Amino acid sequence: MARTKIALIGAGQIGGTLALLAGLKELGDVVLFDIAEGTPQGKALDIAEASPVEGFDAVVAGTNGYEAIAGADVVIVTAGVPRKPGMSRDDLLGINLKVMEQVGQGIRDNAPDAFVICITNPLDAMVWALQKFSGLPANKVVGMAGVLDSARFRYFLAEEFKVSVEDVTAFVLGGHGDTMVPLVRYSTVAGIPLPDLVKMGWTTDARLEEIVQRTRDGGAEIVGLLKTGSAFYAPASSAIQMAEAYLKDKKRVLPCAAYLTGQYGLDGMYVGVPTVIGEGGIERIIEIELQGAEKDNFQKSVDSVRGLMDACKGIQPSLG
Ligand code: APR
Repeated sequence: MARTKIALIGAGQIGGTLALLAGLKELGDVVLFDIAEGTPQGKALDIAEASPVEGFDAVVAGTNGYEAIAGADVVIVTAGVPRKPGMSRDDLLGINLKVMEQVGQGIRDNAPDAFVICITNPLDAMVWALQKFSGLPANKVVGMAGVLDSARFRYFLAEEFKVSVEDVTAFVLGGHGDTMVPLVRYSTVAGIPLPDLVKMGWTTDARLEEIVQRTRDGGAEIVGLLKTGSAFYAPASSAIQMAEAYLKDKKRVLPCAAYLTGQYGLDGMYVGVPTVIGEGGIERIIEIELQGAEKDNFQKSVDSVRGLMDACKGIQPSLG
């Protein structure tokens, strides 16, 4: 029986970390693709040389040719440029849209049956463009944002409450940007919703608001510290969790940028919503009822994603 094949388009900071994690978790063989000559080959060899120490069996290969991704079961896309301090994710749009066009073609021609996870920013617009450029079914093309955003929220909450990160669940909706919508009433410690924890004196509404804002700014906080690029460990972990949900048909309930066809009153766009991921890709989209400020914030987030989609259409009219 052939091993599962995972193709990583982009062998930069996130791509390299994805390859290592896929190896450590023995998810399958890995192909690292990049336009930079030597980078994917060097990273692949380095990771392969870790395999005897870590005890995993996987073929890890680096390539500059799309043919090598042929037959991939999962494709994770990080190709493009990351943010530098002072840049928003949206500043990357022009460059990364062109990259998505090339990548979409490469996937369409070589791995049309794959489950495709896009990480390249600005996420919601790039995954939408990638789906169009690739022509793959929308349930098989998904954006990684919500798992990362809710992981950040979970981490900050666990730190606040001095409890295990494992016992904190968090819920983040909307676009992957400054307008994302962390949902306090659906976030819990061992099932106890945050508003109840406020009543119990564990924290205050003001403190929660600070944590929500830190979550929204989570990516910028890392960019400000690193100065030379953006976060890569947690984004890679998050995408691997999604890949694993698909490959093992786990039916995980994960927040992802998914293509909406009427849910939340939206049609023909990608935005972060709770989904079920299994062997069918995005098998279900969970539609919750938003209240008051949540509705307004979600709408703001949707408007900002729409703005980015319009900017993409301006650059590449074929997306219209
Ligand atoms: N095709 C393939 N690879 C490309 C292309 C292209 N057209 N253009 C650039 N790349 C490669 C670069 O050579 C580089 O190795 O993409 C890689 C990107 O890696 P990094 O610069 O290290 O960026 P990384 O931190 O991995 O982030 C990648 O994910 O989170 C987002 O905002 C982030 O959009 C950025 C992406």
